[in-house]
Amino acid sequence: MRILSGKNAIVTGGSKGIGKSVCLALAQAGANIFILDTNKKEGLKTIKEVSCHGNEASFVEINVAKEDEWINFSNSLEKNNKTVDILINNAGVWLGKEITDVTISEYQKLISINLTGVFLGTKHLMPFLKKAGEKSEFGSSIVNLSSVAGLVGSQLDPLYSMTKGGITTFTKSMAIYFGKKKYPIRINQVHPGIIETDMGKQVAEARINQNPNMSLKESHLTGITQTPLGRLGTSQEVANTILFLSSDNSSFMTGSSLVVDGGLTAQ
Ligand SMILES: NC(=O)c1ccc[n+]([C@@H]2O[C@H](COP(=O)([O-])OP(=O)(O)OC[C@H]3O[C@@H](n4cnc5c(N)ncnc54)[C@H](O)[C@@H]3O)[C@@H](O)[C@H]2O)c1
Repeated sequence: MRILSGKNAIVTGGSKGIGKSVCLALAQAGANIFILDTNKKEGLKTIKEVSCHGNEASFVEINVAKEDEWINFSNSLEKNNKTVDILINNAGVWLGKEITDVTISEYQKLISINLTGVFLGTKHLMPFLKKAGEKSEFGSSIVNLSSVAGLVGSQLDPLYSMTKGGITTFTKSMAIYFGKKKYPIRINQVHPGIIETDMGKQVAEARINQNPNMSLKESHLTGITQTPLGRLGTSQEVANTILFLSSDNSSFMTGSSLVVDGGLTAQ
């Protein structure tokens, strides 16, 4: 039997990048997938690929920063008697600007997606995760996408680092909260290093903006040489870790942080 057979998983930002690899990894393990994303075009393509694994897959166009959209989504789950066993709070954006150049609206957009989105997903899906967790030996599971920038200061984006640091302590706080309330929900997080996605490219571009004489090739190489394993990570490698945290294979883990960074923060 596949380890997530019959489980329902919600992946925010699942249309592309790390989220897409997570959808495919969880589906391969037997889960039904809901993608919640603003990018419908890529989301529908991912749904097609996910369906090849023989599970249910749906796309819902949602901006994770908007509470009314989460309320509509949770109402539709309720109406259709849907259960939720796994929530992956993955949707996130990068800014990559000098703090003096950041406008208040750019700042508010960043925190509304990276922080408010995680708060709202957790708040509105908690009743579903609690209910499903009561029927499962090791409970239901939330996995949050923090970053190495949520563990140490980012050289390129202090405000992104601020949001990811918030996720790091929120995840730990919620593990304590669920434990005290005796809610059968485990909550853990991953801290990726530089991963080859569109956001990974934005990191390389931000390095050039701050070092104008650098070429794109040099910037890319800087990321590689900073990483002890001598390469960038793949979204599949992050997804493998998220699959572990989503499943009963991590049954005694809550409030934990798994670093997937090729050794970047070991230095
Ligand atoms: N790529 C990296 O190097 C890296 C490193 C550390 C952490 N992370 C984190 O991993 C997560 C995924 O990153 P990625 O590299 O796959 O990024 P990506 O830009 O490739 O994909 C992000 C996805 O989130 C969706 N999204 C953005 N704003 C949204 C919103 N308001 N509502 C719903 N969906 C929204 C996008 O449409 C897209 O599908 C993010 O939280 C990111 O901060 C990435």
